[in-house]
Amino acid sequence: MQHDLIQLFDVESSTFTYFLIDRATREAMAIDSVDRQVERDLTLIKRLGLRLRYALETHAHADHVTGAAKLIEASGALAAAPSGCGITPANVQLQHGDALLFGVGEEVRALHTPGHTAGSMSYLWRGNVFTGDALLIDGCGRTDFQGGDAGALYDSIHAQLFTLPDITRVYPGHDYRGSTVSTIGWEKRHNARLAQRDRSAFVELMGNLKLPRPKMMDIFVPANRRLGMRHAV
Ligand code: FE2
Repeated sequence: MQHDLIQLFDVESSTFTYFLIDRATREAMAIDSVDRQVERDLTLIKRLGLRLRYALETHAHADHVTGAAKLIEASGALAAAPSGCGITPANVQLQHGDALLFGVGEEVRALHTPGHTAGSMSYLWRGNVFTGDALLIDGCGRTDFQGGDAGALYDSIHAQLFTLPDITRVYPGHDYRGSTVSTIGWEKRHNARLAQRDRSAFVELMGNLKLPRPKMMDIFVPANRRLGMRHAV
């Protein structure tokens, strides 16, 4: 683990939250916070003396509630979300290629990587890519709801992610098997769903997964479009 990057895990939803830190100024970014872990995150912010600039979302999640609203309220940060996700209260609505600046010369670049959901984005920072649920370690996000599209996911991964240098570290939104980090090179060569599979074979595979619908999806997705506030205010 790099000193300036902190990876935290919510066991119940197998969700990773990331803190990106500029050591000189103690300014920080959070990616994909989790509602029930906000106290953990605020404790971390306090212990490390961080000033949180942005709480970022990769997409409107279906399997947990984001902690973004609580985090920005408690820290004074701004919320930033992909413009195509319908997360209307976010202060910054990101477009493909936008950069969020923090600290001294630190820059998080937004890459539109649709497919898991239509609006999903990945974020690039210092040779690390935070892929949300587009590219997972040895897998990928499902593509069967919220504008998900297997062909679009294949195209996003190949055009936006697999074109990054092989040594780029891959930090996903979830992991269900205990992995924490991978690289673009490893995923290109070995990913169980993507390696040695062409676009039509990938679309066919994704169309046959027959995954159960996330139990709380009808509550969580609307809540996440409000940055995690359970009810409209
Ligand atoms: Fe997701």
